[in-house]
Amino acid sequence: MRAAVLGAVGEPLSIEEVTGGNPGPGEVLVRVTASGVCHSDLSVCNGTLPLQLPAILGHEGTGVVEWAGREVTRVRPGDRVIGSFLPACGRCRQCLADRSHLCEEAGRLLGRACGTRADGTALYPMTGLGTFAETMVCEELSVVPVGTDLPDEVLALIGCGVTTGVGAALNTAAVRPGSTVAVVGCGGVGQAVIQGAKIAGASRIIAVDPVAYKRETALRLGATDALDPSDSGTGTVEGVRELTDGVGVDYAFEVIGNVATIREAFSMTASGGSCIVVGVPSAALDVAVPAAELIFGEKRLLGCLYGSAQVRRDFPRLVRMVERGQLDVGAMVSRRITLDEVNGAFDAMAAGTVIRSVIVNA
Ligand code: APR
Ligand code: ZN
Ligand code: ZN
Repeated sequence: MRAAVLGAVGEPLSIEEVTGGNPGPGEVLVRVTASGVCHSDLSVCNGTLPLQLPAILGHEGTGVVEWAGREVTRVRPGDRVIGSFLPACGRCRQCLADRSHLCEEAGRLLGRACGTRADGTALYPMTGLGTFAETMVCEELSVVPVGTDLPDEVLALIGCGVTTGVGAALNTAAVRPGSTVAVVGCGGVGQAVIQGAKIAGASRIIAVDPVAYKRETALRLGATDALDPSDSGTGTVEGVRELTDGVGVDYAFEVIGNVATIREAFSMTASGGSCIVVGVPSAALDVAVPAAELIFGEKRLLGCLYGSAQVRRDFPRLVRMVERGQLDVGAMVSRRITLDEVNGAFDAMAAGTVIRSVIVNA
């Protein structure tokens, strides 16, 4: 089968013929039908997110189960599934406490090699998935069945960006009706935060992004105001304060992965409000916030992993929301591409010309 392999940090992905892994008794073989290209894939390529290499990248995908091992109980051949980039065992302390995104078994399940390059070198599928490929072999715990007729490219985005963004608003922050929200960074994940905040009933949603196309899309998807941080003058924090009677927002989401903008998001948060960090900066960096704002403003600084999603509950729920027109995932699909065009998708992401490129396998 063909797959997009990262051989070393800083290199382009190599689209090559590889040998897929042999599924074990608790594993499934999935024919991948579509895969979104997410910023976290780019972060692996440039070294921001460290990963065992060579790796088959891709962690936001969907497909059809072709074969299931004899211990597999939750899916059957023929099922449409969405990959979960964090497997959830359903039995550990975290899973039992509605925190399956922090599953204690995930680390053990994620690190394994699966498949080989033509020269026999072992390949590591990103997050136990490796969706930039024609097929993937993964743990049963890494896929969630969804009964639906929605298009593949829509289901793919539920695998990461949609779940992370909508979940950040609905689960991590639990945005309240009538509240005010700012979203700093309106790429694939940020657009999903905006939609989540709208679903939660926020009265004001301020989209912040330097790219005009991202701001325009945000306004279409539910933002009430848009700010360009590169505008000279008062700056983003002041701009958000001006739009909120000088108090700041109840919830500020950082969806870029940059410590300077995390600091800004914290400062635009109103006293008693929450700053939710969705973007993933390099693990080597510290996040610093002013102690006075933290304590005297009693601000909350919340990390957000995978939108605090319980994938077995949330994937089917998000599918229903798309089916009923409450969530517009189609509007986030800017381009359908082939596996061979994946490097161009990173260029488009860096140039700001797409919300999401989605690889659709023929
Ligand atoms: N202020 C506001 N927005 C900015 C700024 C800034 N200073 N700098 C960049 N941006 C915008 C970009 O224009 C882009 O629209 O941030 C957005 C980032 O979007 P994508 O590149 O599409 O990234 P996405 O896939 O949404 O992921 C965002 O979340 O899951 C994590 O690892 C992921 O850290 C990444 C973040
Ligand atoms: Zn992602
Ligand atoms: Zn668990």
